[in-house]
Amino acid sequence: MEKYLGKKKVAIFISGRGSNLKSLIKYFKKKNSLIKIVLVISNNPDAKGLKYADRSKIINYGFKSIRKSIFENQSLKLLKKYNVDILCLAGFMKILSGNFIKKFSKPILNIHPSLLPKYKGLNTHARAIKNKDSFSGATIHVVTQKLDSGKIILQKKVKILKKDNPKTLEKKVLKIEHEIYPRAIKNFLSNL
Ligand code: GRF
Repeated sequence: MEKYLGKKKVAIFISGRGSNLKSLIKYFKKKNSLIKIVLVISNNPDAKGLKYADRSKIINYGFKSIRKSIFENQSLKLLKKYNVDILCLAGFMKILSGNFIKKFSKPILNIHPSLLPKYKGLNTHARAIKNKDSFSGATIHVVTQKLDSGKIILQKKVKILKKDNPKTLEKKVLKIEHEIYPRAIKNFLSNL
């Protein structure tokens, strides 16, 4: 990886659509960027997001549904091979084991579509609407063994309108996800 000398190397795990991956690729692709996405891994070989990595000539792997421990071991080997400085989860739908987090030993960030600590887990938009919350948003946090509970790095709110439904709210939140994740990674890496 000589060509990335002096750059911070990022790996991204995805499971599906990959719109966050797409926005991260766009943000970090500038030639003079000090941050480079060097590896994308999916636990789903059909993840649409892998196409974005392909198009940008980023090394990527889509593993067929294998046991989690096998997925994690294969991923660890790749993370080591490409000597990444940070792993960012972007719509990665598996919960990483404590063993993986310990063995990787570098920071892992995640993006979550709610204002954590509210609504950990799934169906965040429907839950926020059901509870008649006035705001939702997105959170970037450090990944620990406890689901969606690590240190919060950055959050941004969006207003929930009366006319919103889970779909429209998802769209609004996704827009701010694309805006804050690149920024959060950049700031986090500059403080490492
Ligand atoms: C995003 O809402 C992200 O916050 C959540 O899963 C969704 C993934 O979307 N963890 P995409 O695959 O990045 O389009």
